[in-house]
Amino acid sequence: MPNKTHRTYSIMFLTSVNERSQQKIPTQCTSKETSSNKIWPRYLVLTTQTIAVTGLVVTTGVAAYSTYKYLTLKSYLHGRDSDSGHSHDEGHGHSHDGGGEGGDFGGYEDSKNSFMSLHYATANEVMRYSFIPKDAIEFPRRAADICIKYFGDSEKSGVPSRVMDVGCCVGRISFELTRGFKEVVGLDYMRGFVDLCKELQRFGVANYTATEEAEIKTTHAARVPSNLERDKVTFVQGDACNLSDDLGQFGCVLAANLVCRVPKPMAFLKKVPDVLAANGILVIMDHYSWDEMDTEKSEWLGGFYKDMKPVMSSSVLKSTLSENFELLDSTDIPLICTFSARTYFYMVVEVTVWKKKTK
Ligand SMILES: C[S@@+](CC[C@H](N)C(=O)[O-])C[C@H]1O[C@@H](n2cnc3c(N)ncnc32)[C@H](O)[C@@H]1O
Repeated sequence: MPNKTHRTYSIMFLTSVNERSQQKIPTQCTSKETSSNKIWPRYLVLTTQTIAVTGLVVTTGVAAYSTYKYLTLKSYLHGRDSDSGHSHDEGHGHSHDGGGEGGDFGGYEDSKNSFMSLHYATANEVMRYSFIPKDAIEFPRRAADICIKYFGDSEKSGVPSRVMDVGCCVGRISFELTRGFKEVVGLDYMRGFVDLCKELQRFGVANYTATEEAEIKTTHAARVPSNLERDKVTFVQGDACNLSDDLGQFGCVLAANLVCRVPKPMAFLKKVPDVLAANGILVIMDHYSWDEMDTEKSEWLGGFYKDMKPVMSSSVLKSTLSENFELLDSTDIPLICTFSARTYFYMVVEVTVWKKKTK
């Protein structure tokens, strides 16, 4: 999992510096080394050690600082806040810790609060300023509406009223989909997200923190609207790049902001027809902001030059899917995500709606 690999890589990098500092420095002091270094004046050995230690401290410091700055920048670009991602339990008795063995959010660990805000912040909480573009709020509800509309339009006997929300994250879109489907499967790779979804399903509420300004945080309750039938949803851990046939057949599959975040987007696009019934609807929503942190460059659908010509992700997506699908609609929708009281992300998401061809 690249998200995880990236984090692991960062840790490994620092560890290797640490290992060197623990192993190499003592070797300067071993008797063997000392005897072979006898010809060196004592002060020079000390100076060498001092330089080595100083060098390692500086290197470690620079590496740690660079890694911190890099992750902070990545957090910013991905809507991942640099907070620890831990929500505070204030009154509900079921907060989430996210990290460690108990709840793995992988590369998204620090982003949990941003996603909780994107999915569950109320319109009033997001619209703190009158000039915030109103049509960009409530992305999960609008994403579900698109699936419900196109599934309803094409619903025929034999097309199961089952929808899969691939990359469901903190689950709000899955819950919203219950308005139009008899059965909803929310699938995510990250166990921490799946656990959090199950908690929201069970209690209808979970706490998260939002950044007011830098270190100043506020606690919020994420509430699943009471009109949504939470028990229609099943949350499962799974890999979009290796969808299991055990998931069964769906009448609709939604991949919202997922394709440019998986390690092997082409594997997902090639497999997804297998889990859709004939005439089933596939909805892809993406902003194509590829990042090697999530997807190795060799796996990007587009966003690069080939033979001096730009390769656009949307074109590659469309040519890939047109083999098995008929394109019903292609449009752009806005999405706004709150990062702090005065920082918002505004994204334009391309929505393509596909109907699986009958063979
Ligand atoms: C950018 S978030 C999008 C969340 C949600 N769909 C939305 O639009 O708000 C991407 C989600 O995909 C999940 N994800 C990443 N790689 C995955 C994979 N290989 N299989 C399933 N889910 C994956 C992440 O854990 C994360 O929850």
